[in-house]
Amino acid sequence: MEKLLIRGGVPLEGEIGISGAKNAALPIMCAALLTPETLRLAKVPRLMDVRTMTGLLERMGVAAHAPEPGALELTAARIADPRAPYELVRTMRASVLVLGPLLARCGEARVALPGGCAIGLRPVDQHVKGLEAMGAEIRVEHGDMIARAERLRGARIVMDLVTVTGTENLMMAATLADGTTVIENAAREPEIVDLAACLSAMGARIRGAGTDVIRVEGVAALGGAAHRVMPDRIETGTYLAAVAAAGGRVRLTEAAPDTLDATLDKLREAGARISVQQDSIELEMNGRPHAVDLRTAPYPGFATDMQAQLLALDTIAQGTAMVTETIFENRFMHALELQRLGADIAIEGNTAVVRGVERLQGAAVMATDLRASASLVIAGLVAQGETLIDRIYHLDRGYEALEAKLGALGARVERRR
Ligand code: UD1
Repeated sequence: MEKLLIRGGVPLEGEIGISGAKNAALPIMCAALLTPETLRLAKVPRLMDVRTMTGLLERMGVAAHAPEPGALELTAARIADPRAPYELVRTMRASVLVLGPLLARCGEARVALPGGCAIGLRPVDQHVKGLEAMGAEIRVEHGDMIARAERLRGARIVMDLVTVTGTENLMMAATLADGTTVIENAAREPEIVDLAACLSAMGARIRGAGTDVIRVEGVAALGGAAHRVMPDRIETGTYLAAVAAAGGRVRLTEAAPDTLDATLDKLREAGARISVQQDSIELEMNGRPHAVDLRTAPYPGFATDMQAQLLALDTIAQGTAMVTETIFENRFMHALELQRLGADIAIEGNTAVVRGVERLQGAAVMATDLRASASLVIAGLVAQGETLIDRIYHLDRGYEALEAKLGALGARVERRR
């Protein structure tokens, strides 16, 4: 299994370009199922999850073609097999995003229930509830959701809780429904706005994406379109947190600073000097960070996908920080690994109490999920000596060219097989 060796303790300095957003690319790829015409995408990140999603679409009969790196053309002329099997859904929960588009286009779908995942229960009841309100019949058989609908019809759906992929699934399904769908208590994440922009380019009629009420007027058919995937705000935040922790100066280009307010506020509170231009961000950090408290929340609150990285920053901060996780019930697995590097963290319910220590020391650690792995990389960059991170396939799911980008900042990072 591949490992990442980091020799820490050097400040980071340089400029790197931000990739397209994983969490925007995955739902947008599923939108290709809604039309027989070609969807042309640019800025698709080269990530394991994108390859998995391409494979899933291909086995349904979608033609996938990458004319150049970062470009992807998807044509679902005919959907031969509207199924997402457990082997794929298990490795990538976002596979559930095919459910809404398949139902809308084919009137049937068979999608494995995602089951448990390392960071928590993550059920899909809200996806099901919304599709049922639109007239779908869904039953569970042998671990699969089997869904059917003659033609979905518009409905008013009040989500019981804010769910990102749930909102995306319903928004996609509603584009081809008969009549208008109103999704209330919708998620407001920027990736939903990006998906809505792509769907609109395909001919969908959507209003309110980015607010908590989304209105979709169904149309008879959607067509092909070209769309550029938005910049990855979590990748951006991860590199900013790394430099805030290790010290130094970075310029991130091709970014979307307006999607990062909560993270930038916290990094400023930690003592980083940050300046923002239209599509780039500069951060400079001298000395030890100050401890920052945080509480995760749906957008525009502080992203759960940035919690582990800021917690890593807090491990070497001056003072004690309270980090509260409200979205996923089991998202502190990185805490135990960070302790192996010398961090002082106590978990009390859904709060981590992090007492900043002056320095971390390199050690062998294990990546447990995508963002937890990112926190170990940050800690490894700060730690004195060598940190060897095992199971880095988690990182490859979400960070394009991680070693190359860190290397461009002067970090001493290498992949070991
Ligand atoms: C998406 C992101 C993920 C991020 C998460 C929260 C993608 C591909 N993934 O995941 O990176 O960490 O948003 O910002 O975009 N829930 C239910 N019932 C449902 C759906 C969700 O109870 O039907 C609960 C979940 O268990 C969780 C919370 O709602 O506690 C939020 O989950 P959700 O927003 O759905 O996360 P994902 O869309 O899976």
